[in-house]
Formats: sequence, C-alpha cells, structure tokens
Amino acid sequence: MDTIKISFSKKVFSQHKSDIAFVFVYLNKNENFTGRITGKKCLEFYKKHGDFEGKEEQFLLVYPEDHQELKTFGAKRVCFIGCGQKGSGKKSVQLHEKYRKTGGVIAAVVKKYAAQKIHLDGDSIESFQYRTNIQNLIEGIYLGSYTFNKYKKIEDEKKQQTLKEVKVFSVSQEQQTKKGLLLGKNGADAAADARDMANEPGNKWTPVQFANYALELEKEGLNCTIFDKKKLQSMKMGGILAVNKGSVDPAKLVVLEYKPKKYSQTIMLVGKGLTFDSGGVSLKPAAGMQDMKHDMCGGAAVLGVMKVVAREKPAVRVVGLVPTTDNMMSGSATKPGDIITHYNGITSEVINTDAEGRLILADALAYGNEKYQPDCIVDLATLTGAVIICLGHNRTGLLSNNDKLSELITQAAAKAGEPVWRLPIDEEHIKQIDSRVADIKNTGGREAGTITAAAYLQKFVGDTPWVHLDIAGTAWNFSKKNYVPEGPSGIGVRTLTEFIRDWKKTKF
Ligand code: BES
Ligand code: MN
Ligand code: ZN
Repeated sequence: MDTIKISFSKKVFSQHKSDIAFVFVYLNKNENFTGRITGKKCLEFYKKHGDFEGKEEQFLLVYPEDHQELKTFGAKRVCFIGCGQKGSGKKSVQLHEKYRKTGGVIAAVVKKYAAQKIHLDGDSIESFQYRTNIQNLIEGIYLGSYTFNKYKKIEDEKKQQTLKEVKVFSVSQEQQTKKGLLLGKNGADAAADARDMANEPGNKWTPVQFANYALELEKEGLNCTIFDKKKLQSMKMGGILAVNKGSVDPAKLVVLEYKPKKYSQTIMLVGKGLTFDSGGVSLKPAAGMQDMKHDMCGGAAVLGVMKVVAREKPAVRVVGLVPTTDNMMSGSATKPGDIITHYNGITSEVINTDAEGRLILADALAYGNEKYQPDCIVDLATLTGAVIICLGHNRTGLLSNNDKLSELITQAAAKAGEPVWRLPIDEEHIKQIDSRVADIKNTGGREAGTITAAAYLQKFVGDTPWVHLDIAGTAWNFSKKNYVPEGPSGIGVRTLTEFIRDWKKTKF
C-alpha cells in the first residue's frame, strides 16, 4: 500500500480545506453530549431524530452549508465521531482498542466518500492518555484504510481515490500530538508492509524478495547479511537445506542487525519465511492450499519490526533473522524417514515433510543464539494447524521457557490488540518427539501438536529466555475488526514494536 502522509498543525482547526473534517464527541454519565463541542445544536437536532447519539462506533456526517453554526468550516463535510464516555474508568487495553476502532470508523467513512485529504480535531480528543489515544487512532485509520490492488485492473481515477493525507490539529498539545502521530504511523506502516508481503503470491514473493526488502533497510542504518544457498551449505544449516531440496528457488537466511552506539542487551527476533507450503512429499490436500502463500507471515512481521526499529532507534540491540524457502515436492525433495543434521549438530528424523517450519527455524535459532548471544529470543511462525483448533482465530499461541519474558510479551500483545494465550511445554510433551533412530523427530503425533512443535524449537535456544508465538490462526482470518481487512493481518508487528518500545534493562 502507498504510505499515507500524516502531519500536524498548530493552527485553529475549522477554517482549512479538506474533504472531511472529523470532530470527536463524548458523552457524560447521563449519556448527554459533554465538553466544548463545535456544532452542539446540530448534534442535538440529529439526536432528537434518533440519528446520532454519540456512542462508540457511531458517526454523523453533515455539510457545513446546511448548518449556520458550522459555516466557519472550510471542509466540504464535517463528520462527528461518537466516542461514548471518556476512558478514565476503562482498562488501558480497552482504551487502546477503542481508539483503534474509532480510527477504523474514520477509515470506513473515508472510503465511503472517497476522501483523499482529511483533518482531525485533536483538541476534541479526551486528554486522559492523550498521546496514546492519538497513536491508536492513527493505527486504526491507517490499518483500516489498507488495500492491496496491485494485481487488479482498475482505472487510474479509481486508484487515485484512496486516502492520501491525514492532518491532526491541536492548539494546546503540540508535542504529545506529534509523538502520538509518529508512533502510530511507524507501527501501522510496518504492519501494512507485512500485509503487503503476505498478499504477494508465492510466484512473486520468494526468498529473493525477502532479501531485497531487508537490503533496502540498510539505507535506514541496519546491517544486512544475506546467506545464500552455498553459504548455508558451508554453514551446515541442514534444516533449511532439507526443506529447500525440492525447490527450484534457492533458500536464504536473511539477517538484519540494529546496533546502537551504546547498548548492553540484545533482543533476537526470528520469523518463519516459508514463501509457499505445499507440504512437500507429505502433500497437503488441494482445498485451501492457496492460503499457504501466507506461510511467511512470521518472517514478514520480523522485517516489519526491523523497519520500525531502524526508525525509532531504541537503546537495545535488535537482531532479526528470517530463514526463507518454499516447501515443494519433486524427485529431489526430502522424504519421510530422511535424517537431517541441524546447524548445532542435533539430528532429526523427518517423519512428515509438512512439519517444515520447525526445520528452518531450528537452524536460524541455533545460529542466531550462538552468534549474537541474545538476552532473549522471540520467534513468530505460522507453525501448526493445531493452534487454530486450540485457540481459534483470536489469540496467538505463546509457548516459552521463561515466565518473565512471557509476561512482557503478553502485556505488549494486549496493548497492541493482538492477544496471546500461553500453553505449557511439559517433559511428557518433550518425550513425544524422541526418535528411535535420531536425536529427535519432527512430529510428535496429533496430540498437543502446537506444543510438540514448540518443544522441537526449544531444543535450539539453549538456556536463553525464549518465547515462541504460533500465529497460524491469527496471521490471516484474524478476528473481524474494522481495522483488520480480510486476508493477512500483519499480526505481531505492533506487538513486538510495543515490546521493544517498552524495553528496560531486564534480568530474566
Ligand atoms: N504452515 C503449516 C501450518 C498451518 C496450517 C498454518 C494451517 C496455517 C494454517 C505447517 O507447516 C504445517 O503444515 N504444520 C503441520 C504439522 C504436522 C504435519 C505435524 C500441521 O499443522 O498440520
Ligand atoms: Mn507445513
Ligand atoms: Zn508451513
């Protein structure tokens, strides 16, 4: 998606020209309009007719020329956005989601009227958690306006009719508004990038495109290293190579490093970049197989987060790794029963070639852990169908060897509106992946499929605090929200962004 220009103005709100000027409206305990509202008479008039009460997710669109008291407006239309009661009684997490959804309402209005330039009255937004409200509002507008029309033939005129510019006016809160706009835009823009990558089909988004996206980030100050197939061979990354064996597109391991001048700790992120998962010789059924072009959403999220990191420059080192290949079948493909050797020397019996995600992640985890000695690791992967059976499409599965890191990620996820739920990894689960002929095997049977997949990964992180996020249920078909379109959701980008923003030196 093209980026949306987001800017600030200190001027008085009403006079300026735009397609729609948005004003935020709150209710008091008696459900009456409250505060110094522009256009109060107009609102009371529509309320009397039952058209607008100011409740959350309601809006009222009017034309200034119809209403004497709105005559000063330079905008073609004025839209009142219902915000219900102010949020001081609400939990923070609910307040965040409320403003993202409010942004989603604005995005829907923008779409309906094909608006390209909109203005928001920042000073009408509640002051409790003002900066965060602005941030979440922008996230909602930006993500709610997301489109992917690249491969559709539509007239240029129609293509032009998308939101181009959002300007937020505030006379009294310049710094807070600017900060909120920047945070909102950075997170949403990166999540939109992750959606774009995932929307690309398997024939257009291959390991080469992952590498190119990462190389672009060198311009923003990150160090990028691309390990090509030859290098992977010399490094003995047996898992990535085994999955790539049936493919005509060579695998890659993409590594991005953000290194501040002064830092004491390192966060390592790893994302599954499987550009198409046919299942390999253990072929998947045809129905729904096209969705397996999204099997790279973990990798997409990691690169998105690295883009935010490059822009926001936190005081912690952040390393992102994306092992990437497709999983195809051919005469050269890995077969059930094959035994492979991972980067750290662990041998694995490939029971099912469709359990390929753990094979490519294992090498990346082991390599990154050895090379960067991170203080913590978070991996994201569309790893198991079982997590959908377990948690559905609303919560990401979280599995971990560390309570504190789990707690931090859980909080960040809730803040971002991307909730997670932790599952255990018990000794009994770990036993499920014992192999008769190798150190481990790549499936543990149908029972606890999400957990045994995590148990596999755990063999490759040593004692490093680690969280695994199984996003198979949430990376696409994520629970319906007005700022989440059909198709890829960009899950994980804003969760990890919040996690890094809130990072304080931590002893795990
Ligand atoms: N990419 C799939 C998991 C998946 C399934 C993601 C459905 C999104 C929706 C993964 O590579 C896979 O095929 N996992 C197998 C593992 C099994 C063979 C142990 C699965 O879940 O069936
Ligand atoms: Mn698979
Ligand atoms: Zn897969």
